[in-house]
Amino acid sequence: GAVPPPHRVQDRSTELETYDDAAAARFEAGFRNTPDTDPDLPGNREWGKEILARVPDSQLGDDLIREHTLDSAEQVEQTVQTALSAAEQWAALSGAERAKVMDRVGVKLANHRAEFLEVMASECGKTLDQGDPEVSEAIDFAHYYGHLARELDTVEGAEYHPSKLIVVTPPWNFPLAIPCGGVLSALASGASVIIKPAKQAARTGSVMVHAVWEALDEAGIGRDVLQLVQLSERELGTQLVSHPAVDRLILTGGYETAELFRSFRKDLPLLAETSGKNAIIVTPSADLDLAAKDVAYSAFGHAGQKCSAASLVVLVGTIGQSRRFRDQLLDAIQSMKVGYPSDPNTQMGPIIEPAQGKLLRGLTQLGEGERWIFQPKQLDDSGKLWTPGLRIGVQPGSEYHLTEYFGPILGVMTAETLEEAVEYVNATDYGLTSGLHSQDPAELEYWIEHVDAGNLYVNRGITGAIVQRQAFGGWKKSAVGATTKAGGPNYLVGLGNWTDQPLES
Ligand code: ALA
Repeated sequence: GAVPPPHRVQDRSTELETYDDAAAARFEAGFRNTPDTDPDLPGNREWGKEILARVPDSQLGDDLIREHTLDSAEQVEQTVQTALSAAEQWAALSGAERAKVMDRVGVKLANHRAEFLEVMASECGKTLDQGDPEVSEAIDFAHYYGHLARELDTVEGAEYHPSKLIVVTPPWNFPLAIPCGGVLSALASGASVIIKPAKQAARTGSVMVHAVWEALDEAGIGRDVLQLVQLSERELGTQLVSHPAVDRLILTGGYETAELFRSFRKDLPLLAETSGKNAIIVTPSADLDLAAKDVAYSAFGHAGQKCSAASLVVLVGTIGQSRRFRDQLLDAIQSMKVGYPSDPNTQMGPIIEPAQGKLLRGLTQLGEGERWIFQPKQLDDSGKLWTPGLRIGVQPGSEYHLTEYFGPILGVMTAETLEEAVEYVNATDYGLTSGLHSQDPAELEYWIEHVDAGNLYVNRGITGAIVQRQAFGGWKKSAVGATTKAGGPNYLVGLGNWTDQPLES
């Protein structure tokens, strides 16, 4: 969350949250976003350095992975049955009672912020400035979905029946917030949950689940409603995904993965957030300083490994020749310190695995008419540490224009008019995030009317949606089966079943 509520101190080195009557009353009064850590406070800087010092040797979560890896079809079946047997008691609670548990989860997550930052940096290469808002988002999901669970009690004219079993298969790129979004929405909705964290982020997912278990223990619920699994073989994954007892499957991952899951079970009730090929349009009326900063951050934050990241910037009219914008953007990119997150000076960390396939092509090859302004370079032998790439001259309909690369590369297109720019943006198969930098209300109106994407951002970066303020979800091939948005008011409604549909999605 970006806006710190005034009642919270943000000195992480001293403050722990408590769940007591006063906290419960505060949460019941309404939802507020959790503030990020303020890096200007000296106490927080020291706190951050201590976390980073632990990163190289961190083994957080290792033991949990060992303990929760399933090796056989019988074990998968057993896990499903255990989750199902816990569902009844959990679903019998009112929304308000589940909300109290969610608030407890939020407090627990807040108190584990340092551990989350450590494990995300160690396992996924997240720098502190990228990881910290992710922890805030995870905490927000707990309290916000709790808030929505309370509302389920008060819907008139329709009866709500929770799903029994929801399976969550999150990605590695937001290894804490996205798993929390899936797990906590499903729990708040009254379902039992099985989570299978991504292999590349298995430790982070495990540490997260452990924190939720602590809250469930404290609330006297028991752990069976939330099952953590890793699977030793692919076939076991197919077995889990296609199990007939699964009422909903929440997937965040590539479009191809969603298609694959559907091929396992035709009637699978899938809610999938998938790929993106996102652009920011900059017009001559834009605040160019702000635009350059937002483009660079949206493209290269977490090394561009976000479904929401900017992969294209489309310069309209005279901006294509503007020396001022060009210099600002080049400065912003060139000054970015690339390294490992254990170094506090690092601004852009490594990619998750050595570059290969499509991403390697994007980092090394140019299409017709394209030219490198900054050609990506490898800084060591790992295959994972690349300097940010900037290519100009991207042609409409070219491979770069239409392909999602999921890495630190930005391409520049130019357009004569805003209309033409919007055509380029809409030409991709995807429609996740989209940005406009403009100070002209008529341009804004045109763009909102014509651009095809789920999340539109004006004069702001296009990553980092904030729970409740910017409900998150895509159009076109950026979503499969998901008709409501994560972190938005109707998300829980879509996870259960109704005698009548009470709200429009
Ligand atoms: N929710 C993530 C973002 O907005 C993907 O960047």
